[in-house]
Amino acid sequence: MKLVVPAEIYDGESRVGITPDCIPSLSKMGFSVFVQSNAGIGSSFTDQDYKNTGAKISVNQKELYKNADLVVKIQRPTKQKKINEISFLKNCNVLTLLYEQKFKNEYNLLKKLKINVFALERMPRISRAQSMDVLSSQSNLSGYKAVIDAASQFNKAFPLMMTSAGTVAPAKVLVIGAGVAGLQAIATAKRLGAVVFSFDVRVSTKEQVESLGAKFIEVEDKSKDSGETSSGYAKEMSQGYKKKQAKLLEENIKKMDIVISTALIPDKPAPRIISKKMVELMKVGSIVVDLASEFGGNCELTKHGEIFNFKSKKIIGPKNLAATVSQDSSRLFSKNVVNFLMNSCESGKFKSFNWEDEVVKETCVIKNLIGKGK
Ligand SMILES: NC(=O)c1ccc[n+]([C@@H]2O[C@H](COP(=O)([O-])OP(=O)(O)OC[C@H]3O[C@@H](n4cnc5c(N)ncnc54)[C@H](O)[C@@H]3O)[C@@H](O)[C@H]2O)c1
Repeated sequence: MKLVVPAEIYDGESRVGITPDCIPSLSKMGFSVFVQSNAGIGSSFTDQDYKNTGAKISVNQKELYKNADLVVKIQRPTKQKKINEISFLKNCNVLTLLYEQKFKNEYNLLKKLKINVFALERMPRISRAQSMDVLSSQSNLSGYKAVIDAASQFNKAFPLMMTSAGTVAPAKVLVIGAGVAGLQAIATAKRLGAVVFSFDVRVSTKEQVESLGAKFIEVEDKSKDSGETSSGYAKEMSQGYKKKQAKLLEENIKKMDIVISTALIPDKPAPRIISKKMVELMKVGSIVVDLASEFGGNCELTKHGEIFNFKSKKIIGPKNLAATVSQDSSRLFSKNVVNFLMNSCESGKFKSFNWEDEVVKETCVIKNLIGKGK
């Protein structure tokens, strides 16, 4: 079985789908791994690193894709002026982040080919699939990096410092949304010495927030709504709840130095939580990092991919934060892929996908190829 790892072509995408440490596991499963020359360099993995662990390096892209059974990419295959990745795909399985609702052009082109496409962002949120969950592994690192970026833009220190020249007060950080990214943002801000607050519509997050040493800001809601669906995701809250949440946020946001917002509702635009008025109430010099920027933003003022200065406050709308810690994010993504393939192995060998398995069924959004190994 030939597994192919192309170099990513999107601007700012420095990750790679498979890292050298995973090649031995893939070889054991029966894969011959072919990596495009310099595919790993953005994550500091050299061609020699791949060769040392048993992969073959391919310089010619046509040769690379020839007779491929599996293609592993971070970003969806695309058709660009300089490279038409889609034209190389024939009779193969593609494992990638597809987001077919958002990138309809590519989806429609891929749908016409004799290939299977696995959208890894659709991994079901079940305990068994945790080790295959690319969204979690990448969100965790994004939560960490959001705090580091905020700290580097902030003109004050994070920890309390008692010096002979006077006392430096600790930074106050509010994390909105305590999912995977939010909880890592809380942990990182705590490690840097900030005083951390958080809120989430899901009542179950209170315990997790408090266990990290942060204070949970609670919306008083007599309806006793858990705020979550049966699959553990946040749900759209009532207008009454949203009004109370906005009032509570207005009261709290003016005391904060840094706000990290991570709130998302699956398959919906990001909820608008931070209004322009709220940013006006914030202290001069304060910072908002809007991790929901890619999905429309939690803050009314967010500009995706920019640092927007508004009345001496900065609103950061980061693009692909996980790629800014590419060595670790690539390694975790790669491990998730290996675990996903391992899940379909019989006696340690990969022969074909286990089509009866929920994780295979849920992630395979284009299924135009059935047969041996396919
Ligand atoms: N395989 C697994 O079992 C698995 C994997 C990953 C996550 N999970 C769980 O899934 C749940 C969702 O995590 P996630 O990181 O994917 O979430 P997410 O990225 O979908 O959303 C981020 C957070 O924003 C919150 N949110 C949504 N609307 C909000 C609003 N208006 N105000 C404040 N907060 C709001 C959500 O409740 C969530 O905590 C968590 O319980 C997590 O532990 C399970």
